[in-house]
Amino acid sequence: MQTLTQSFTHRYNRMPLVVRAPGRINLIGEHTDYNGGFVMPAAIDKQFLFAAAHNHTKQFTICALDFNEEISFSLNELQPGHRWVNYLMGVVAGFVRRGKAIGGVEVMFTSNIPPGAGLSSSAALCSGFGFVLNELFQCRLSRLDLALIAQEAEHQFAGAKVGLMDMYASLFSKSESVMLMDCRSNTHEYIPFRADGLDLLLIDTKVKHSLASSAYNHRRQACEAGVKILQQKHPGVQSLRDVSEMQLLPYQAVMEEEIFKRCHYVVKEIERTVAAAGHLKRNEWSAFGKLMYETHDGLSREYEVSCPESDWIVNTARESRITGARQMGGGFGGCVLCLISQPEKKMFSQKVQEKYFAQFKKEPDFYSVELSEGITLLDF
Ligand code: GLA
Repeated sequence: MQTLTQSFTHRYNRMPLVVRAPGRINLIGEHTDYNGGFVMPAAIDKQFLFAAAHNHTKQFTICALDFNEEISFSLNELQPGHRWVNYLMGVVAGFVRRGKAIGGVEVMFTSNIPPGAGLSSSAALCSGFGFVLNELFQCRLSRLDLALIAQEAEHQFAGAKVGLMDMYASLFSKSESVMLMDCRSNTHEYIPFRADGLDLLLIDTKVKHSLASSAYNHRRQACEAGVKILQQKHPGVQSLRDVSEMQLLPYQAVMEEEIFKRCHYVVKEIERTVAAAGHLKRNEWSAFGKLMYETHDGLSREYEVSCPESDWIVNTARESRITGARQMGGGFGGCVLCLISQPEKKMFSQKVQEKYFAQFKKEPDFYSVELSEGITLLDF
């Protein structure tokens, strides 16, 4: 943080406010957020840090410290174009749409969230920047408003039709807890995460799928198509949240195979997430871990968003009797999340490291994560 504030004052000759915006993990509940279901995310100890001050003009000057790249745009020319600036323009556009009187700022940011690893770096970027603007211009937007603005930025300026989980987790998380988020009402319950003797280990496959966002949008459309078919007989169905497995099964013969598989996965995943919350409250770790493996199987076989590398890591975890493991996030690579006992962690990591390289000619990365507080204003 010191380097950031020093660089900011050195470059812009002013004292900034400083904001921390974390990435997130998701224990279970994948691809359920945009289906009105439940998810179980938590912010982690990897984050964006922003230093910012207003400049009394209409000019936004943003410096990405990690790339040593500075880009400016004006409030009057919010056109998607440049990679990471898109996200920030999208956030500014969200404030403008809500009639908020904001002006130009100087912002410098740095991040230690690995991009493309399924840890929601773009959501942390958008939500953190929204939080910065809200503070600087005293806009009085709620955290939920900021999450919605961040989501709109991803939809409209980055073309990814993402759900609300990632930005919500970055904004609302509480340290040492996970959230059971209801994505229909956009509300949550905190559940203390007391996994004595167990760690959360992320294994980064280093696989980044170039078409991941179009494939993601395609999955979302398949769910919507399934809902339309179900509504013909069940007009009360608003989303897959309203559908039980029993109700869905007769549609196997009617729906296209692809649509049925996607819907079946989502219906089961919503069930699993609710069951997992019960296990978590009762500290039933092996039952919880079993559900993580089931989620992975669903992601791989029914939702078809896995990849050979993630499948291999999860199978290796299963063979090694690790408590739980599954691919996490939007899919097509990124990280595998393992729930693992502390004594096993070192040996398992070594085993994966050696064999993964032999198999895929890539070095995986390992991150042990702690659960952290959501977005905060920092004192310095
Ligand atoms: C991405 C999206 C989220 C969610 C997950 C899958 O992270 O940003 O909204 O849909 O994929 O669970």
